[in-house]
Amino acid sequence: MQLTDEERAALDGAWGEPQRIATQVLVKLGESYGAERLIPIASAHLVACSYQIAGEAGIDIYSRLVEVGAKVKVPTTLDPGSIDFVRWSRFRTPEHYAQRQIVIAELLEAMGVTPTWTCTPYYVLNVPRFGQHVGWSESSAVAYVNSVIGARTNRLAAYVDLCAALVGKVPYFGLHVTENRKGQILIDVASEIGQQMHDDDFAALGYFVGAALDDLIPVVRGVLDASGDQLKFLSAAAASTGSVALYHIVGVTPEARTLEDAFQGGTWQDVLSFGRKELEETKEKMCTFHEGKVDVVGLGCPHASIAQIETYIGLLAGRKVHHETELWVCMNEIVEDMARKMRLIGKLEESGARIMTGTCLNDCPLDAWGFRHLVTDSAKFAYYTPTTVGSECHFTSTERCIEAAIRGYIGERNGE
Ligand code: F3S
Repeated sequence: MQLTDEERAALDGAWGEPQRIATQVLVKLGESYGAERLIPIASAHLVACSYQIAGEAGIDIYSRLVEVGAKVKVPTTLDPGSIDFVRWSRFRTPEHYAQRQIVIAELLEAMGVTPTWTCTPYYVLNVPRFGQHVGWSESSAVAYVNSVIGARTNRLAAYVDLCAALVGKVPYFGLHVTENRKGQILIDVASEIGQQMHDDDFAALGYFVGAALDDLIPVVRGVLDASGDQLKFLSAAAASTGSVALYHIVGVTPEARTLEDAFQGGTWQDVLSFGRKELEETKEKMCTFHEGKVDVVGLGCPHASIAQIETYIGLLAGRKVHHETELWVCMNEIVEDMARKMRLIGKLEESGARIMTGTCLNDCPLDAWGFRHLVTDSAKFAYYTPTTVGSECHFTSTERCIEAAIRGYIGERNGE
């Protein structure tokens, strides 16, 4: 790779051990992908900040880095941790576990990160602009900022993201390069679906695309419009069943004003149809149970927006959550503060819902709850919870999630 004098000096240890190691990791990564140089990034976002992911090895690494004075060089935000930092005891988190997460938080904060603890840093505090290079790792956020904002990042691995933050650079390859952002596969959405898609349809479309394409770049044609939250659902789904880090939707996302734009004047390798049959088959695959008592309803994956919280309250309509069922709503602390000011949190809590910030169902220890049956409107929860939480999962619309929380049951019983 062609390195600057400053980068060479970093490799020689002139700027200290953290810079030497981090630069070495980035250069090795770049060399393995044929990158010619490192480029500056505007921000970083880290995933190995939860105790569940980092563990004791992570604490060891972070402790050593802090000891030798490591500091991030660019604004750096954090993915969810493994505890709700305020209410961890109410979520039955073991004390020792919570304390180890707090140690990680202190170490990362000593390195200068912004403790957002969210997978939606793009709402506030880390909002890249179109065309800007960043170094992010959370898969749903990577797909969102590449596709919806038009910023540029590869899906960095845990700790490589920290190296990017420490150096303020990433190797120039993959999705940082304009030609590599052109669409590869055309996804034709039938007009009966695309004209009026609901949130759960976007999640299912993402689930379908990720499973079919892995890391190829889909160009979706036939979707009339989409809200930011719907694109958030799609991004999280496609990045879970596959490794989709960038997609285009013709007429909706910024690098796809036209079909020609999306393929950069070229053509597609293949076409997949997404009609009623594919939609229904996909939703079927997203469920491991269809009827029965519900232990927990999980909303806010990725972390909920104010608009979603307002929707939940409208659907609850002053009713109470079933006494044998939990309704957990995940969001980031800034959204919680704003929603509290708007008197939305009080209404959620009056219904019996629990607010969870700083973490999510997939990242915190849930053994003490013994959840067996989860209902969610998130394709990502639906994909991961059978393994991470060990529960059966039913994916459905937000509306049916709320009904399940109130009835304590999903399915036909009680006339549903
Ligand atoms: Fe975010 Fe956790 Fe879902 S990190 S995307 S709420 S699984």
